[in-house]
Amino acid sequence: MDKEKVGRFYDVVWTEYLPEYEETEKHWKIFFTSEEVAGRSVLDAGCGTGIFSIIFANQGAGRVTGIDISEGSLGTARGLKEKFGLDSAEFMKQDMLDLPFADASFDIVWAWGTVHHTTDPFQAIDQLIRVLKPGGALLLAVYTRTRLTFIHEIIRKTLVRTPRRSWTCLSKVMALFLAPVVFVFKKREKSRKGEKLEELILDWYFVPIRHYYRPEEIRKYLEDKGFSIEKFLPASGRFDSTSNFIFKARKV
Ligand SMILES: C[S@@+](CC[C@H](N)C(=O)[O-])C[C@H]1O[C@@H](n2cnc3c(N)ncnc32)[C@H](O)[C@@H]1O
Repeated sequence: MDKEKVGRFYDVVWTEYLPEYEETEKHWKIFFTSEEVAGRSVLDAGCGTGIFSIIFANQGAGRVTGIDISEGSLGTARGLKEKFGLDSAEFMKQDMLDLPFADASFDIVWAWGTVHHTTDPFQAIDQLIRVLKPGGALLLAVYTRTRLTFIHEIIRKTLVRTPRRSWTCLSKVMALFLAPVVFVFKKREKSRKGEKLEELILDWYFVPIRHYYRPEEIRKYLEDKGFSIEKFLPASGRFDSTSNFIFKARKV
């Protein structure tokens, strides 16, 4: 099943792939302040290795719940919680398409780079909206659909059909060929520990499920659900990436 494939993919990829705390926190501060999160309940949906949950807890959130379908990533997240000595964060295996929380359970719902990896991103968004309290803040970072998306998708759909054991090797070979192009066109800000082009390629081209949207689609969806948009970043993802657009929206 595709969902299990995604979980297994992230068991391997993101457990090796720890974002730098300070760089990630700088990015978090674009959207929230410690005053805004103090004492609040937070859902980090698709928390991965838990870096944003840890930041929310360190910034004074009252209760942070990180959920993910990747046990490997959750293991790393629990290790981070221990390392930072945080009692207010907890991590659990849950599917965001079917959240076990009551309606209006959280003050803040954060979903960074996650709904587009589910089998049904709008079902995921509906679940996130359901568990958010009225007046609460929803943050969504979603892959941008561009004119080049179809090319990326042809490559990805071809590569995910290759045997799993060859993926690391293939991404290294692709990195060798793409390195000069990336060097010329893009100066990347290094914000993941030991970040390598081959890891980015693995994450980009070998992930089993990937959806892309235009910002207007997500904006309209949120506004139709009664949200007001507080912040919109068209292409300013974490890690200096242009692949995500980000909405911070308030449930009215
Ligand atoms: C690109 S990673 C982002 C991780 C984290 N939000 C971050 O930015 O550091 C996407 C995460 O979404 C998780 N994910 C995908 N589908 C999911 C689902 N249906 N329910 C919960 N988590 C899911 C994956 O396992 C993976 O950890």
